[in-house]
Amino acid sequence: MMKTTTGFKVFLLAVTGITILSLTSFRTSAPPASDEYIIIGWNDLGMHCANKDFQNMCVLPPYNNFYAHIIKKGTATSLPQVMTTGFTVNYSIPGNTYSVGKTNFWDYAQQLFNVNLSPNIGLTGAGLTGTMNQAGNYYVIEGVPLTPYQDNDLVNENPFQLALLEATGNNVTFTTQNVMPVSNEISCVSSGCHNSEMSILNAHEQEGGFNPNNRPILCANCHGSNALGMPGIPEYGSFSYVIHNKHKNKTSDCYKCHPGPNTQCLRDVMHSAGMVCQDCHGTIANVASTIASGRQPWLQEPSCGSSSCHGSTYAEEPGKLFRQSKGHSDLFCSTCHNSPHAILPTTQPNDNVQMISLQGWSGTLKKCTVCHGVAPEGPGPHGIMYSSVDEIPGTVPGTITIEEVSPNPVKEDMTVKINIAEKGKYYLEFVAPDGKVAATLYAGQLAPGKFSVNFRPGSLASGMYVCRLRGQSSADFKKVVVL
Ligand code: HEC
Ligand code: HEC
Ligand code: HEC
Ligand code: HEC
Ligand code: HEC
Repeated sequence: MMKTTTGFKVFLLAVTGITILSLTSFRTSAPPASDEYIIIGWNDLGMHCANKDFQNMCVLPPYNNFYAHIIKKGTATSLPQVMTTGFTVNYSIPGNTYSVGKTNFWDYAQQLFNVNLSPNIGLTGAGLTGTMNQAGNYYVIEGVPLTPYQDNDLVNENPFQLALLEATGNNVTFTTQNVMPVSNEISCVSSGCHNSEMSILNAHEQEGGFNPNNRPILCANCHGSNALGMPGIPEYGSFSYVIHNKHKNKTSDCYKCHPGPNTQCLRDVMHSAGMVCQDCHGTIANVASTIASGRQPWLQEPSCGSSSCHGSTYAEEPGKLFRQSKGHSDLFCSTCHNSPHAILPTTQPNDNVQMISLQGWSGTLKKCTVCHGVAPEGPGPHGIMYSSVDEIPGTVPGTITIEEVSPNPVKEDMTVKINIAEKGKYYLEFVAPDGKVAATLYAGQLAPGKFSVNFRPGSLASGMYVCRLRGQSSADFKKVVVL
C-alpha cells in the first residue's frame, strides 16, 4: 500500500516536470537571490550514522560532510562557469545550534580518539556553523559534529534537517538548502537483539587484548574501518567483515543495524520503484564474503554504470565511487542527482527543496537553463539535448510509436511526435550508424498520451541517424537525416 502511494507521487512529480519543461521561458516561482550565480549543495552520503551514547562503545562518531559548487550562469554569448575564487561560503543548520548534551561524545572524545576537543567542535575542527573550504572546483566542509536533535526537540530524531549554505562575493549573496542527513539509530539494543551494550562487550571473546572494562571501546581500534580511516589490526578482520559475518545467519534485515526502522535512510527514486538494499549490495553474507575475497569496505561499492544496471552512458568515472565522480563539464554527479541512497526525487520532502527552488520541480536537475541561462546548442550530461515536451490532446494510443519526425531532413528546430501507451520510463534518442547514441532528446517518466518533443540538433554532425523511442519492453524507430 505504502509503496503504491509513493510510486504514484513520484510519477506525478515527473509529469509536473514535463509540463513546466514546456514553459522554459518562464521563471520558477522562487528565483535565486542572484540572477547571475547559483550555489548547489549536497551531502557526500545519503546518511551519516553516529552513536549517541559513547560511555561503552563507539561505532561511529558525529561526523558529517557537505559539498557545493558555485556556478556563474551562462548567457546567450557565454557558457556557465564553475567559480572557485572570490566567494565565501558559510554553512549552518538552522534550528540546530549545539551538540553538547544531545550526545555525550565530548565526555569521551579524549579517551576514544586521543584529541582534546572544544565543546561542539568535531574531529576535524569544524563546528555546527562556519566557513566551507575551497578545494578543486568545489567547496567542502568535513567532520561537522551534527546530531539529529533540533534545539526545540531533544527527544525525537530529525534525520533530514536542512543545512543552509550562504555564498557571498562580487557584491551579492545567494543561498541554497539541502539535507545534512544524520541518525543515531544504531539499534543493537533497541532492535531487541541484545539486552544491553554491556552484554555485547561481555560476549566478545577476550582475544587480542579485548577487555570489556577498558571502556569506552572504539571497535575500529582493532577492526579497521575505512569510514574512519583507521587500519585496525588486519588479522582481526575489518569491522565490516566481522560484523556482517557474525550476523549473517541471525537476521536478513539491514535496518536492524543501519538506520533504520524509523529513519528509513534509503528513500530515493529507486526505492520508490521497489528496490531494496539487497538488490544492489547482495545479502549480509555477501557483504562479508566479498570482503573476504578482496573487496575494500566503503571504497568498493555497487556502481550505477555496471552493465546490469544503467550501463556506460550513465557510469561513474573509472575506478571512482559515485560520490567522487564528475560528469558534465567537471560537475560532481551529485550536483544534479544528490547523494547515494537519496537520488532525486526522494520520499523526504526536505531532499527535494533545493531542486524545486532551482528548477521548479523535484527530481534530477535536468532544466539546462538553470545553469546555462539560455537553451544550450549541443548535447549536455549523458548526451542529453535541450528539449521541451508538450502534451497533445487526443485519445490515448494502444502502442508506443514515433508518429512523425518533422521536418525531415532537419537543419534547425524540429519536432518528434510520439505515442505512449503505458506509464513508464522512456528514452527518445538519435542513434548513429555505428550503433552509438549520438543524442538523447528525452529521458524520463511519461504517462500514457501523445506528446511532441521539440528540440534543435545544434552541434550534431550531419548524416543519417535512427530516431529511437524505447521504453521498458517496447521500442519504435524512424530514419532521420540531419543536414
Ligand atoms: C582489542 C581489540 C579488539 C577490539 C577493540 C574489538 N575487537 Fe572484535 N575481535 C577482536 C579479535 C582478536 C577477534 C577475533 C578475530 C578472529 O577470530 O580472528 C574479534 C572478533 C570479533 C567479531 C567476530 C566474532 C565471531 O565469533 O565471529 C565481532 C562481531 C567483533 N569482534 C565485534 C567487535 C565490536 C562490535 C567491537 C567494538 C565494540 C569490537 N569487536 C572491538 C579484537 C577486538
Ligand atoms: C540502487 C542501489 C543501492 C541500494 C538499493 C542501496 N545501496 Fe547502498 N550503496 C549503493 C552505492 C552505489 C554505494 C556507493 C556510493 C558511492 O559510490 O558514493 C552504496 C554505498 C553504501 C554504503 C557505504 C557508505 C556510502 O553511503 O557510500 C553503505 C553503508 C550502504 N550503501 C548501505 C546500504 C543499505 C543499508 C541499503 C538499504 C537500506 C542500501 N545501501 C541500498 C547503492 C545502493
Ligand atoms: C549486525 C548489524 C548490521 C547488519 C544487520 C547490517 N550491517 Fe552493514 N554495517 C554494519 C556496521 C557496524 C558497519 C560499519 C562498519 C565500518 O565502520 O567499517 C556496516 C557497514 C556497511 C557497509 C559499508 C562497508 C562495506 O563493507 O562496504 C555496507 C555497504 C553495508 N554495511 C551494507 C549492509 C547491507 C546491504 C545490509 C543488509 C543486507 C547490512 N549492511 C546489514 C552493521 C550491520
Ligand atoms: C548536469 C547534470 C547532470 C550531471 C552532472 C550528471 N547527470 Fe546523470 N542525469 C542527468 C539527467 C538530466 C538525466 C536524465 C533525466 C532523468 O533522470 O529523468 C540523468 C540520468 C542519469 C541516470 C539514469 C539513467 C537512465 O537509465 O535513465 C543515471 C544512472 C545517471 N544519470 C548517472 C550519473 C552519473 C554516474 C553521473 C556522474 C558521472 C551523472 N549522472 C552526472 C543529469 C546529470
Ligand atoms: C549544474 C549546471 C549545469 C546544467 C544543469 C547543465 N549544464 Fe551544460 N555546462 C555547465 C558548465 C559549468 C559547462 C562548462 C562550460 C565551460 O566548459 O566553460 C557546461 C557546458 C555545456 C556545453 C558546452 C560543451 C561542453 O560540454 O563543454 C553544452 C553543449 C552543454 N553544457 C549543454 C547542456 C545541456 C543540453 C543541458 C541540459 C540537458 C546542460 N548543459 C545542463 C553547467 C550545466
